[in-house]
Parts: sequence; structure tokens; C-alpha cells
Amino acid sequence: MAYINEHFLKLKAGYLFPEIGRRVNEFTQANPDKAPGLIRCGIGDVTEALPEAVIEALHAAVDEMGNRKTFRGYAPELGYEFLREAIAEHDYAARGMDISADEIFVSDGAKCDSANILDILGSQNRIAITDPVYPVYLDTNVMAGHTGPADDAGLFEGIIYLPCTDANDFVPAIPEEKADLIYLCYPNNPTGATATKAQLSAWVDYAKANDSIILYDAAYEAFIQDADVPHSIFEIEGARDCAIEFRSFSKNAGFTGTRCAFTVVPKGLAAKDAEGHDHSLHALWGRRVATKFNGTSYPIQRAAAAVYTEAGQTQVRSLIDHYMGNAKLLREAAANAGLEVFGGTNAPYIWVKTPNGTPSWDIFDKVLNEAAVVITPGAGFGTAGEGYFRISAFNSRANAEEVAQRIGAMAW
Ligand code: MLT
Repeated sequence: MAYINEHFLKLKAGYLFPEIGRRVNEFTQANPDKAPGLIRCGIGDVTEALPEAVIEALHAAVDEMGNRKTFRGYAPELGYEFLREAIAEHDYAARGMDISADEIFVSDGAKCDSANILDILGSQNRIAITDPVYPVYLDTNVMAGHTGPADDAGLFEGIIYLPCTDANDFVPAIPEEKADLIYLCYPNNPTGATATKAQLSAWVDYAKANDSIILYDAAYEAFIQDADVPHSIFEIEGARDCAIEFRSFSKNAGFTGTRCAFTVVPKGLAAKDAEGHDHSLHALWGRRVATKFNGTSYPIQRAAAAVYTEAGQTQVRSLIDHYMGNAKLLREAAANAGLEVFGGTNAPYIWVKTPNGTPSWDIFDKVLNEAAVVITPGAGFGTAGEGYFRISAFNSRANAEEVAQRIGAMAW
């Protein structure tokens, strides 16, 4: 007899994006005439080609792999030195942060890392999660058995939910109770909000006071336009003692289909065993990665390193400008249609209040049926996401213009 991990059975609906895909397939099958004009602003998947510098580096690395003299086998599990050094220099030292190359673990995705990190963290941790939230943080804790069942509202027993609404500018208040692990993501997916240095400092102070760890997702930092918005949790004093950061090449350099990311675990960061003794999370994560991962492929790491060349930086900037130009168009179109809009100024997501409190899956169906546009219903990100929907700015300019026009033409 083989048994399943029954914690999976607590997850009621499917993962959000496959569920959207299922509904969209139903729509296109029922409306073959509308299918060709369908525009997807649902999942935040990039649409523009990889930067030229990245393509050149990929080609060159593939040629190296095709020659016995320059061929490489297994990559170092933790990442090639050339990429870790480039990340440390450009993403951290250049912004005044003290993160060394050997605190950077190269991987094939921030989604996987933010899920896999639970391997090294105990099941007795009390978990705090923002609501709405990128579903991976919550679902992976459910799968790992860190929660009880969900109630009728979809809230899982044992989770400390941190509501993020327009009333708190989508940055959660510090909770009264003690959380051991806190998931934060800024610029935020799905709300497009940012957190100020003062707000993040309050979280770092809380984490230090409670011996907690902040799991900080900065996958969208490249979209920040305002000079005073922090790009990393490590810009905050004291964060080296209480934070792990996840970053990705997916959204800035278009690597959603190419796969490269990294996680920063400071060397001094520790958590306790049951007897209260400290253990290095850097060492445990290194052990976990070395055991379960054989490294991101050499050509992909070369491609990622090319992002940090002068040409790469210029090309990435123009990709960001492109998507943020789309965000401006979409944001303005929704506002001009009389909708209340948030985000979209330092992030590629526009977070829109549904008119008259309409449930967000109803708005999803309405926008799909009336405008042939796929958005993401806020409820898919958590109960506090109900009453909102998300428009992704990842698209061609022509599609963003068309969506803006269709949003304007709809009877909301
Ligand atoms: C999203 O749409 O929320 C993201 O694309 C999902 C992801 O990055 O995995």
C-alpha cells in the first residue's frame, strides 16, 4: 500500500493560473470567433524577446559546450563564481549593501526557491503571510503540513494572515502575535504596491525582537521607478540578521522560459533547533541545494551574467521601460473608465477595485466574455484579494493599447 501526502487534499481549488487557463480554454472552445482576438493579461509572463546581450552569451556558451576543450559537465550546485560575483557587485555592492558572492545561491527559479526553503525550516514555525499573496507561499506551507484545514472562507488554520488593503496601502501592519516566518514581497505581487524603508525597518525590528526570519521576495525590484523605494531587504539595517531574499531574472530580463534566479542567505543568519541551539541557515540551505539540485546549466548562467554587462543593463532597462509604459496605459485606461486603481507605477501589475463590490471571479468572466481579455481575479490571491482584480502589464505595446481601448469601451 502506498499513501499520499494528505496535506495536499486541504488545497481546495487548483493552483490559480492553471484554473484561469481552464476557464480560458472553455471560453475559446465555446467562442471560436473570439479566440483569435483574446489578449492575456492574467499570469505575469513576459512577452518580449530576450535581450541581445543575453542571446549572444547563450550562443557563445552553447558553442563552448560543443567543443571538447571548453565543454562543461555538472555546474557547481551553488552557481558559477562568475555569476555570483556579478550579482554581488551589481545588485548589492553598487547599492551599498554588504552581500558577498558566497552568500548567493544560483537556481532555476524564485518560485522553486521560495517553495523549497521550507525544507530547512521547522514545522513548528508560526507562519505569517500577507493577504492577498503570491499563492506559492501559502500553498507550499499547506503541502508541508504547516497548517490545519481551510475554513469556509478559505482561511487556513494556523496561518497568521496579514491583510493588505487600500486602507493600509497594501503594506501589512505589524501583528500583535509572534510569527516565526514572515513572507513579504515588494514591489508586491499582486497589488503592485511598494514598501518604504521605514515600513521595512519596522518589519526588520519586529523580526529581530522575535527571533523571526523574513522571507523577502524581490522578484520585481527592477520595475521600481522612484528613487527612495528600497530594492532589497538588505538595504535595511539589521536585515542580515533576520532575512533571506529571493530574486529572479524572469521579469527583468525575460527569463520566464529560460529559468535563472538566486537566493541570498547571509552567513550569520541562524534559526534554532528544539533545544534552542542556533544553526546556520546558510549552511543548511547549502546542504539542501547540494543534495537536491545539480545546478543551473552553464549556458543559462552565462546568459544571466550577460544581464550585468553594459549592453545587457541598457537592454534590460529598455525592456522595463516597455512594460512600465504598458502599465501606465492600462492604469490610465482603468482610471478613465471610472475604476479605482492601485499599483502600476513601480511594478508591472495594476490592482483594480471591482465596481460596486462585484465578486472578482464575476469580473473575470465579464472581462473575458465582453472584452476577450484575461485578467486575474483578486480572490485567487486570498480572501483579502476579493473585491479586486489584477491586470498584468506584460504584453506587446499593441496589445496593451488594445486592452486599454477595450477596458474603456466596457460598461462597468
Ligand atoms: C504571477 O502572475 O503572479 C507570476 O507570473 C507568477 C510567477 O511568477 O510564478
